[in-house]
This record gives sequence, C-alpha cells and structure tokens, in this order.
Amino acid sequence: MKKLIALFIAFVVPAMALASGGKLMYKADIDLTNTASLQRGAKIFVNYCMGCHSLKYMSYGRMARDLKLSEDMVLENLMLRWGADKKIGAYMTIPMPAEEAKKWFVAVPPDLSLVARSRGKDWLYSYLLTFYVDDKRPFGMNNLTFKNANMPHVLWQLEGLKKAVFRKEKGHDGKEHEVFDRFEYLTKGSMTPDQYKQAVRDLVTFLAYVGEPGRLAHQRLGVWVLLFLAVFFVVAYMLKKEYWRDVH
Ligand code: HEC
Repeated sequence: MKKLIALFIAFVVPAMALASGGKLMYKADIDLTNTASLQRGAKIFVNYCMGCHSLKYMSYGRMARDLKLSEDMVLENLMLRWGADKKIGAYMTIPMPAEEAKKWFVAVPPDLSLVARSRGKDWLYSYLLTFYVDDKRPFGMNNLTFKNANMPHVLWQLEGLKKAVFRKEKGHDGKEHEVFDRFEYLTKGSMTPDQYKQAVRDLVTFLAYVGEPGRLAHQRLGVWVLLFLAVFFVVAYMLKKEYWRDVH
C-alpha cells in the first residue's frame, strides 16, 4: 500500500500539477497550407532565433521546396551568417558550442526541430506572447507560460515591453495567491499588438511545419484527392445520364 501511495505521489501528483498549471493563455490558429505565412515564419526564425537555436533535421533545400522559395533566394537571404558551408543541402545547424551557451544563458538553447510536437503549437504561441519585465530575473524578463525561462525576449523590439499585473485571490486552500490579471505596455514596439500576434502565428506555423514536414505534403495531396473525386463524380454522373437516356 505504501508503495502504491509513493507511486501515486511520484507520478500522478506531478501530472495533475502540470495539467492544472498547464492552462495556456492563447490558442494558435495556424494554417499549414498558408505558404505566405510559412515563408514569413521562416524569415523571422532565421533572423531572430537561429543565433541560438538550430533545426538540425531540416535542410535548406527541403525548406526551399516546401515553402516554394527559389534555392538562390534561400542561399542569399535565409543562410545569413554561416557562409562556410553555403550548400543548399546543408542542415539548419548552428555553430554554438553547448559549453559556451551554458556560460552565457545558464541553460543550453535546445534544438527546435521537434518543439512544436513536444510543447504543442498553443504552448509555443502563448510562450512568445507572454514575456514580461521582471527585475528579479537575470535578463530582466520573465515568462508566464514558461516560468523563469532563461531565454531573453528576443522579439522585444517588435512587440515592445510589457509588465504583468497580478492580483491576490483566495485559493481552495483558503490562502491568498497571486494570480495574473493583465499586461500593461511600458514601451511600444515597431509592430502593433495585432501585427505582433500575426508574426508569432507565422513563426509557430513554421515550427509546426518543421516538426512534421510530411504533413504539408499530405495536406496538399489531400486537396488533390478531393479535387479528383469531385471531377470524377461529375464525369461519372454525366456518363450515367448518357447511358440511361434511351432507357427512360
Ligand atoms: C540569445 C539566445 C536565444 C535566442 C536568440 C532565442 N532563444 Fe529560445 N531559448 C534560449 C535558451 C537559453 C533557452 C532555454 C531556456 C530554459 O530552459 O530556461 C531557450 C528556450 C526556448 C524554447 C523552449 C524550448 C523547450 O522546449 O524548453 C523555445 C520554444 C524557444 N526558445 C523559442 C525561440 C524562438 C522562437 C526564438 C526566436 C524568436 C528564440 N527562441 C530565440 C535562447 C535563445
């Protein structure tokens, strides 16, 4: 029995805590077939994220093909810094050594190839929308979705800076807790809040594609299959009418 209780505490309780604490602020309304959104997301990723994060299972060539970009365009514009290996077949890796990264950021920036699967698109979307100023953190920023994350808010110039306002609320246990109330902008960014949300949506769309590049092909194939069936139906219907004309 004791063992059972210990097991319960070890596995079920953290899961419950995760489930209750895992309430996400926003839902990402993404569309993997939106090529323009994917292209914008790729551009933001290369410019703002690849300084620290790789996509080691994705090659530039595959991205070019799937996102309908020319290879020259990708080589010139999306392969900015690491000119040494300027080959379209190269994978989207970065030269940051893990040891150095640890010194600079406390944590190692993980490869983001599969992050849309491990964290989920809504988590990613919420994460990038919930950075707030917090003087107690090393970079002066904290995050509501990923508490005490060791990543700076790299998109702050686009979004502007905001602070989080908390209010006190009595919990089930009768004690007072701080709960999030609202954000208040401290500085303006180069984008409006709506534009920033769209930029983040593009970025999440791109990361969702990177996590499952095959799905894009399936979706496109699916559309062709439906179109084929529609055309086939019309042809079959006309044939039927033709065959039965004399019978009636
Ligand atoms: C200056 C370096 C740096 C840049 C640039 C950067 N990140 Fe990060 N990122 C980090 C570090 C360090 C962590 C690890 C945080 C931790 O574990 O506390 C991280 C963690 C993350 C995570 C959480 C991964 C996980 O599952 O735990 C996501 C998602 C993420 N970054 C997305 C992005 C995106 C999207 C961009 C571009 C807009 C970006 N990052 C730019 C340093 C960076």
